[in-house]
Amino acid sequence: MKRKSIRPPNRHALQLAAANRRLNREIVQRRLAEESLKKSERHYGQLLGESRRMQEQLRHLARQILLTQEEERKQISRELHDEIAQTLAGINVYLAALKAEATGSVNGLGRNIARTQRLVEKSVNIVHRFARELRPTVLDDMGLIPALHSFMKGFAKRTHIKIHFTAFAGVEQMNNTKRTVLYRVAQAALNNVSQHAHASRVKVSLQKFPGAVRMEINDDGKSFQVERVLLAKRNKRLGLVGMRERVEMVGGSFSVESAPGKGTTVRAQIPFGSSTTI
Ligand SMILES: Nc1ncnc2c1ncn2[C@@H]1O[C@H](COP(=O)(O)OP(=O)(O)OP(=O)(O)O)[C@@H](O)[C@H]1O
Ligand SMILES: [Mg+2]
Repeated sequence: MKRKSIRPPNRHALQLAAANRRLNREIVQRRLAEESLKKSERHYGQLLGESRRMQEQLRHLARQILLTQEEERKQISRELHDEIAQTLAGINVYLAALKAEATGSVNGLGRNIARTQRLVEKSVNIVHRFARELRPTVLDDMGLIPALHSFMKGFAKRTHIKIHFTAFAGVEQMNNTKRTVLYRVAQAALNNVSQHAHASRVKVSLQKFPGAVRMEINDDGKSFQVERVLLAKRNKRLGLVGMRERVEMVGGSFSVESAPGKGTTVRAQIPFGSSTTI
């Protein structure tokens, strides 16, 4: 019987086996590298998509701001033209009549002076209203609480909605920018209450929290679907979006809760109190 001799592998075969192992290791490493490359490509793709979406949102917001600014200017110009210019024209007519009557009856003169005075009073009121709506001087001169009081007084008179307001005096130590943010949020939230909520009463509160001031505006009106409104693709409304922007601009947080039977609560919390965040 012929015996098969078991010979040790020669050097060439050993080298080949080692090269094969190296090759296999390299293949595995390459596969791993390829996978992680694909993973990071996907990740960058996602990041890119996200940043594009954010850019789009910002552009949309900027456009809305410009449109709103233009719309407001249009409204102010129209009201100035229609209300003040016409009232002043009326005054002029009465003054002309007064001049003609100056030599005539004293009765007619008195009547015309009274009419002219009423028109002057109306113009003064309109100018005051414009100034108040554009930038309430009371906010700069007297502070947030008097400014809110004054706005709410007009609001209650105009809408017949009852307002309950609570605040703490320390809020006036906040800087002007933060007080303006709170004033604008209250103004926009209350305008929403009068325009959309069909409410009979609204509570506004300013409370001190550790390191923050919290403002809440709570109405007893019909609720709405907050997410649906805020996430609407082509949301043309600037009220809620603008409130959030203003609050976040000063490092605060903003939320809206709305539920059937509970009405709507708008909440703005702004950092305040520590030496660096006044
Ligand atoms: N307090 C509220 N009660 C009921 N619905 C509300 C209330 N606040 C907001 N809404 C709803 O949310 C929508 C968006 O409000 P938002 O203030 O953003 O816009 P708007 O008031 O419609 O327009 P504007 O840009 O003039 O403020 C409103 O159209 C309304 O349907
Ligand atoms: Mg609004």
